[in-house]
Amino acid sequence: MKAIVAVDENWAIGHEGELLCRISADLKRFKALTLGHPVILGRKTLATFPGGRPLPGRRNLILSRDPSFQVEGGEVFSDIPALLAAKTDDSIVIGGGSIYRELLVFCDLVYVTKVLSAFPADVRFPDLDAAPEWEAVEEGPVLEEKGLRFRYVTYRRR
Ligand SMILES: NC(=O)c1ccc[n+]([C@@H]2O[C@H](COP(=O)([O-])OP(=O)(O)OC[C@H]3O[C@@H](n4cnc5c(N)ncnc54)[C@H](OP(=O)(O)O)[C@@H]3O)[C@@H](O)[C@H]2O)c1
Repeated sequence: MKAIVAVDENWAIGHEGELLCRISADLKRFKALTLGHPVILGRKTLATFPGGRPLPGRRNLILSRDPSFQVEGGEVFSDIPALLAAKTDDSIVIGGGSIYRELLVFCDLVYVTKVLSAFPADVRFPDLDAAPEWEAVEEGPVLEEKGLRFRYVTYRRR
């Protein structure tokens, strides 16, 4: 299983239920890497999508402990074991913070977009640079969009 995430220079990923910033090149890359794959997400991340609707062109596996929560076009799971039984190996974890924390242990590759800025934040991703079990295997050049500098870094489990 893989994960994909955009972090700032402190590995922050969200603030008050929203992304820290929107980089259109990164959103396009997210689409290219996830299209055709099952995506795994938490109920709060689903709420950030337009109309709170699942992402099109992908099987959406959504975690929620609310037994009455249902969403058209999505499959809802009430715990991790049920999700793990239903997912396929080509699934990609797309957040948010709690889902990354719970499922990173099952991932062997993480696509990280590192935004070279610091934002106010209340949700973080584990610092993979400080985690001995992860190594950066591909580091792209520094790119820039609307004054924001960022780079793509791929981490693999050692
Ligand atoms: N930068 C990025 O790449 C990125 C990507 C995605 C999200 N984000 C940001 O991350 C933030 C959201 O993260 P978050 O941690 O607050 O929320 P989240 O992980 O998206 O969703 C949390 C919800 O998932 C459900 N859940 C979590 N663990 C579960 C389990 N073991 N079993 C069943 N259900 C479970 C619960 O839903 P119920 O409450 O319904 O029970 C929980 O409230 C937002 O700011 C968002 O913009 C950033």
